[in-house]
Amino acid sequence: MNEIKSVCDITIFGGHGDLAFRKLMPALYHLSSDGYLDAESRIITATRDQMTNEEHCDIVKLKLQEFLPEKAFDKDKFDRFKKQLHVVIIDFFDDESYSGLKELLTMYPQRDRINYLSTAPDFFGSICKSLSQWELITPQSRVVLEKPIGRDLESSRVINVEVLKYFEESQIYRIDHYLGKDTVQNIMALRFSNRIFMPLWDANNIDHVQITVAESVGVEGRWGYYDEYGAMRDMVQNHLMQLLCLVAMEPPCSLEADSVRDEKVKVLRSLRLMSAADIEQKTVRAQYASGSSNGEAVPGYLEGEGVEESTTETFAALRVDIDNWRWNGVPFYLRSGKRMRQRNSEIVIYFKMIPHSIFANKGKCISQNKLVISLQPKESIHLQLMNKIPGLSEQMRLQQVELELNTPLNMEHKPDAYERLLLDVIRSNPTLFMRLDEVEAAWKWADVILEGWAEDIVPMKSYSAGTDGPSAAVQLIARDGRSWHDE
Ligand code: BG6
Repeated sequence: MNEIKSVCDITIFGGHGDLAFRKLMPALYHLSSDGYLDAESRIITATRDQMTNEEHCDIVKLKLQEFLPEKAFDKDKFDRFKKQLHVVIIDFFDDESYSGLKELLTMYPQRDRINYLSTAPDFFGSICKSLSQWELITPQSRVVLEKPIGRDLESSRVINVEVLKYFEESQIYRIDHYLGKDTVQNIMALRFSNRIFMPLWDANNIDHVQITVAESVGVEGRWGYYDEYGAMRDMVQNHLMQLLCLVAMEPPCSLEADSVRDEKVKVLRSLRLMSAADIEQKTVRAQYASGSSNGEAVPGYLEGEGVEESTTETFAALRVDIDNWRWNGVPFYLRSGKRMRQRNSEIVIYFKMIPHSIFANKGKCISQNKLVISLQPKESIHLQLMNKIPGLSEQMRLQQVELELNTPLNMEHKPDAYERLLLDVIRSNPTLFMRLDEVEAAWKWADVILEGWAEDIVPMKSYSAGTDGPSAAVQLIARDGRSWHDE
């Protein structure tokens, strides 16, 4: 059995929403059956739909069967897990409806209370206010905020100010599930536990960095939400920015939450704010048109939604510059899109070319060394190097080889990002969560671009579903004499 933490009550607001069923419940099911969540801990779902506990458990069972990986659902485990499940009916517009939650929580006043707000951010303030009015916030309470926190710096401030009226900053866990992915955490291990990378990790040795998060799926029934946000707010401002921070940050003085977050925020504050000319030259936004995905015809972003026009981008590509000593002159190319050719998320560090070649063809056969960190669909890390093709040829011939740095996984079940992050909330470890200043610094940088796009500084492009995005993204990097890793 694994380490057991103190007993806690986890309340999920928006508990019958997509995220709760797809990610949170499966994660809690695993934590519970793997012994990380004490059997006495309760998982309280807050929903608007009237139902009994039994009906709620039946729904959770069906959803677990749907969303857990194949063979992971086990009837006996579920029967034990079921005992931890509770439902309360709460209407966020009706303060009185919190009485059921009050009754449940006050049964154990000393317990750690985790409030997971898996709702639209507009409700964050009012939920916290109601929790406070019902005296349900104790020093052992924590609140988890799902992204997006706002649509820009101003609206994110409004939300954060509201939440901060009721919770201390140390009780607030702003989640970015990319930080819970194992390979993402491995970036820190790779960088800070291996001496060989230390002297190479700077502008003297690195030519550029590419960060791609491509999805083959479309907006998956979330059109209403997505159209409000788009690729820049949904992915770039948070997930891609966090990846960039982990690659670019200075070594923190420890793994303490604030040491790590101090270094990340320094990177965010060093991002060069774009001028109108930069936005035109260094950013691309696009929306997918109909095409095909996995061999099947799929509609365009607007088709079937009853709208004729939308200025929401489903693809964004950018060249980002970091103005500090380490990264002076090293571009970071970022790209994210829906309905792309394939699901592929990776970070590629391109090292500079050797200064002079002693090999035939003036070194034309030599490729730059690359460190390829793949997050999806498979998690892996490869270092691409040159070596000699064995044999007696007169002229030495070279080939590119890959050094695989993956750890063989002897785990029956590979934990999902949400498992790691929920466990960190249970353990009160905020290292992998975003601090207020991080969120604000990321918005400050993104706002300039979003405002430029709102003014049409750069036109909206189109790309067919199932492709690598618009040709403008290829031109963006080609202008600097480079190409995307998968081209
Ligand atoms: C979410 C976005 O944060 O991340 C979704 O809101 C996106 O639009 C998802 O699909 C991608 O997560 P992952 O872990 O599947 O890459």
